[in-house]
Amino acid sequence: MADFFKTEKNKPSGNIWTKLTHGFTASIFEGCECQSNYEDSHGVDIRLIDVNKSFNDNHVLKNINLEIKAGETFSIIGPSGTGKSVLLKHIVKLEQPDSGQILIDGQDIYGTEDKDAPRDYRYSMVFQSSALFNSLSVEENVGLWLREKRVCTETRIRRIIREKLRLVGLSGKEALMTSELSGGMRKRVAIARSLAMNPDLILYDEPTAELDPVTSDELARVIMNLKKEVNLTTIIVSHDLNFALYLSDRIAMISGGEIIEIGTPEEIKASQNPTVRKFIYTTTKGIKGD
Ligand SMILES: Nc1ncnc2c1ncn2[C@@H]1O[C@H](COP(=O)(O)OP(=O)(O)O)[C@@H](O)[C@H]1O
Ligand SMILES: [Mg+2]
Repeated sequence: MADFFKTEKNKPSGNIWTKLTHGFTASIFEGCECQSNYEDSHGVDIRLIDVNKSFNDNHVLKNINLEIKAGETFSIIGPSGTGKSVLLKHIVKLEQPDSGQILIDGQDIYGTEDKDAPRDYRYSMVFQSSALFNSLSVEENVGLWLREKRVCTETRIRRIIREKLRLVGLSGKEALMTSELSGGMRKRVAIARSLAMNPDLILYDEPTAELDPVTSDELARVIMNLKKEVNLTTIIVSHDLNFALYLSDRIAMISGGEIIEIGTPEEIKASQNPTVRKFIYTTTKGIKGD
């Protein structure tokens, strides 16, 4: 049954297929395995080559060259308004570059040649606002995508939700209403929801923006733990240098739309680039050393 729905050539046409996928599929899939393999994830590698983007005369991204390796936790840091979110949006195809290329697992995502070629990776973005539905429970928020896409049986969906909540340290919190949660818990529910589809790539935009330092630390530990348990590539965009230094494999610093430094946390801390030094100095309020 699962294979039947997976193959394009067996897909019924028109209204029948629409009904199957949106109408009464839950009962059809009851007792079956997932339609496709939502159990496995594989970290993807990402390359940006000479990427440029302007909005009118505002040249936001200037010749961005970047390579993020499969399985890496990579942070893009820099002051506000320097193009970090715009860069992230290019990777998830919410913005298109004026020139340059973005390759994911070697495939040019904006290339004309394989425009209609199937993607064999999944990505998921955790937005700054968490973007949860307040009228839904934790369980319903995490299961939203799985139920909407009807990817597997209800029994299995519940198991996936339990597993994702465990990964973010929220075991047993299924029944809580989202509106009752603290900022840190909301963020973790948002991460669990992103994990529901087993993404190969997860992107966070300013994950600590509304969190206090203690909650930010907890969040960093959650993200670091994910790396141990799940095979995915993580990209974090943040102005929070300490957060990035704590959990990243590598960090790129962007300033004025250009990447001015790339390296491990140790290399970033030791950078002699004056803009990097100034950023470190101001974000640590002048506290020197580690
Ligand atoms: N859709 C858009 N249209 C016009 N200008 C934009 C758009 N998105 C971002 N910008 C501009 O691009 C610059 C970088 O924005 P952004 O990437 O959001 O900065 P940040 O580093 O704080 O995430 C800003 O000057 C912003 O006003
Ligand atoms: Mg931003």
